[in-house]
Amino acid sequence: MTLRVSVIGTGYLGATHAACISSMGFEVIGVDTDPAKIALLAQGKVPFYEPDLEELLAAEIASGRLSFTTDITGTADCDIHFICVGTPQQAGSLAADLRFVDSALDAVAPIAKAGSLVVGKSTVPVGTAERLRQRLAAVNKDVELAWNPEFLREGFAVEDTLRPNRLVVGVTSDAAEKKLQELYQVNLDANTPWVRADLPTAELVKVAANSFLATKISFINAMAEICEAAGGDVTVLARAIGYDPRIGNRFLQAGIGFGGGCLPKDIRAFMARAQELGAEQALEFLREIDSINLRARQRVIELVRNDLSDDLAGKKIAVLGAAFKPDSDDVRDSPALDIAAQILAAGANVVVHDPKAMVPAQKRFPGLAFAETIDECLADAELVLHLTEWKIYREIDPDAAKKLVKNAIMIDGRNALDREKWIAAGWKFRALGRSSVQ
Ligand code: UGA
Repeated sequence: MTLRVSVIGTGYLGATHAACISSMGFEVIGVDTDPAKIALLAQGKVPFYEPDLEELLAAEIASGRLSFTTDITGTADCDIHFICVGTPQQAGSLAADLRFVDSALDAVAPIAKAGSLVVGKSTVPVGTAERLRQRLAAVNKDVELAWNPEFLREGFAVEDTLRPNRLVVGVTSDAAEKKLQELYQVNLDANTPWVRADLPTAELVKVAANSFLATKISFINAMAEICEAAGGDVTVLARAIGYDPRIGNRFLQAGIGFGGGCLPKDIRAFMARAQELGAEQALEFLREIDSINLRARQRVIELVRNDLSDDLAGKKIAVLGAAFKPDSDDVRDSPALDIAAQILAAGANVVVHDPKAMVPAQKRFPGLAFAETIDECLADAELVLHLTEWKIYREIDPDAAKKLVKNAIMIDGRNALDREKWIAAGWKFRALGRSSVQ
């Protein structure tokens, strides 16, 4: 008998997980309390932009294996229930808001059948799984709880879910591990590393990984600050240190730093949890990682001020990019959008372009102007900011662009443009961590 699976919470994580597990041949029911989201997903439409997901979702619905509902009782005969709801930052605190995780657990606990498994995938403060295990046991003794953190990246969500670089399972019994091995057999056959852990370690793996990634980015952005002060070039420095395989060259792209719905809130929630555990000293460095990250945004704004003689009032500034990273329409804690909003607040006439994120960006900051095309965005601009490294921005012809703008000043906030090409076309070219030029 093939496993039946429910996925509770159908955001980035849940919708992708549901479609991918279905594509492995299992019957999957996606559940969400938001009827509008469920109605869209049931028609094979994804309410956000994620490459390849919509095609996969539509194919899986057509196969008859994947369905969606707002009624959790429809999942009562499932063998595995995944909890994939969000854990945003609490208003007015660094800690994570666990309301959605708790209510998902409370909804599934009474209806889950004997012998089934409830598996948390959401990113949670360590200790949550044990608390949920006890909460589940108080309602339903015949169901176990496990933790299986998710490492997918937006923009690569389908690829990362189908071909993860490791699978981590926090379990309290061999039976629970066996059931998860049955589900992930195709990955095991492909030699995906399998790590069995206890519940707290499984929870910690996720936040430790995200903290390490955040640290890598802030490390290179700190080096960018030093390069600026000392007249060095951080892009050359990153390439040079990255050849050491112990360091590695990925996630060393200096620029305006990390944003999105994960890294910023995860390091903050980790600090908050460490404090509760009396281990705050161990994570003091994350406070510095957070400050370096936020400082990168201010450094770009300073470059803008310098180039416009500290007078932004009424000046048209073109902003290329609003999403927190390319291949995503996610603007949660987007460094690009934050910078655009701060320049707007300083009185500039900010015109933003993004291939996918303009609608969500406009919802967040209705005061910003948006241009449908790159040309319209650049027209008569007194300065151009490149803030999200979409491929189409690397394909801009600097000669043609120069004819559109009022002042040919480019600030590359992502160190992703071909500097020599832009300079050859007569642009003043600025970039974080590369003060040695111009
Ligand atoms: C991150 C992790 O990479 C995933 O492994 C994890 O599963 C996910 O969070 C999560 O917790 O769900 P994601 O938020 O999609 O994934 O984005 P990343 O690719 O990690 O990028 C985060 C931010 O760092 C972006 O704003 C990006 O522009 C920035 N970044 C990345 C840099 O500034 N420099 C770099 O070298 C790399």
